[in-house]
Amino acid sequence: MKKVGIIGLGEYLPAKILTNADLERMVDTSDEWITTRTGIKERHLAARGEAASDLAAKAGGQALKDAGLKPEDIDLVIVATITGDMPTPSVAAILQDKMGMKDAACFDISAACAGFVYAISTAHQFIACGSYKNALVVGVEVLSSVTDWQDRNTCVLFGDGAGAAVLSEVKSGGIVSTYLGCDGSRTGVLNIPAGGSGNPATHETVDKRMHYLKMQGNELFKIAVNTMTRAAEEALRRAGLTFSNVNLIIPHQANSRIILAVAKKLGIPEDKVYLNIERCGNMSSASTATALCEAAREGRVKKGDIVLLDAFGAGLVWGAMVIKW
Ligand code: UT7
Repeated sequence: MKKVGIIGLGEYLPAKILTNADLERMVDTSDEWITTRTGIKERHLAARGEAASDLAAKAGGQALKDAGLKPEDIDLVIVATITGDMPTPSVAAILQDKMGMKDAACFDISAACAGFVYAISTAHQFIACGSYKNALVVGVEVLSSVTDWQDRNTCVLFGDGAGAAVLSEVKSGGIVSTYLGCDGSRTGVLNIPAGGSGNPATHETVDKRMHYLKMQGNELFKIAVNTMTRAAEEALRRAGLTFSNVNLIIPHQANSRIILAVAKKLGIPEDKVYLNIERCGNMSSASTATALCEAAREGRVKKGDIVLLDAFGAGLVWGAMVIKW
């Protein structure tokens, strides 16, 4: 099996920013509640007509440039998203055309907030066994398109963005271990009830606002802390490492209280935890993707460092990964 690593990263956050003060004018909430309960101050929102593939193309272009590759060098495109441009075709297919990655294999992965880790892991397998050479993996969401802007329980949480990584064979370092999993018995605590084959779109489903994300946040909180802790422990065990070896943890950004509780349980100091939730909110599969890109850009990840990705979301899925930089 070949060694596989990340050789380029990119990010795109839409220009429009929605602050907590803006939300105070839309629903019965306050900057104080949002800040203390979630750690979020502002989030980026896609413009009307700006689709997931548009965000993905900008992040993907940057990642290719960072990797020093041309679009035609990419032979595999995997997009992690729950907010594709349309139910079919995949965002990956639309992205292939937008970026000129002719003939590359293309598909999307639906693993919600763990989607980027799932997608990186999938690309890893394909490259390690020699089926493909260079993969573009994107975590992208336009969650504003499935957010109920009348529901204060959810609308303060989410944002839009895209993060991209190019994976290829590397001589040293690379992906060391992965731990993916799911508890499918808890799909009811976080879902979009209508718009799929189980409940196709009708006037009634639209009137009942069933095409928006519904979340039992309080119920999820504890599960998130326990699951992310367990996933991180297992990924490190598989890598033969301990938490003292970790230089930076890139967690899914659902809530800063969840993240800091996980870090505390794991015994990882706060200065080894990367956070962009204050500026970006929860961007599902784009959260770990953008956080990794920003951490690398800011010099928080150096050659030889051990980086731990740790994500959890609707499914309920989890994905943790150890990467040697
Ligand atoms: O990304 C996928 C995974 N997602 C997660 O893991 C999310 C996990 N959950 C959370 O992050 C938190 O549960 C939330 C941030 C969603 C909510 O925080 P909480 O501390 O669990 O609040 P809560 O749901 O228990 O609500 C407490 C109170 C309620 O009022 P009462 O019933 O005590 O009177 C809510 O109605 O806060 C109220 N509330 C709000 N108040 C002001 C809920 N949303 C708001 C709001 N502004 N936006």
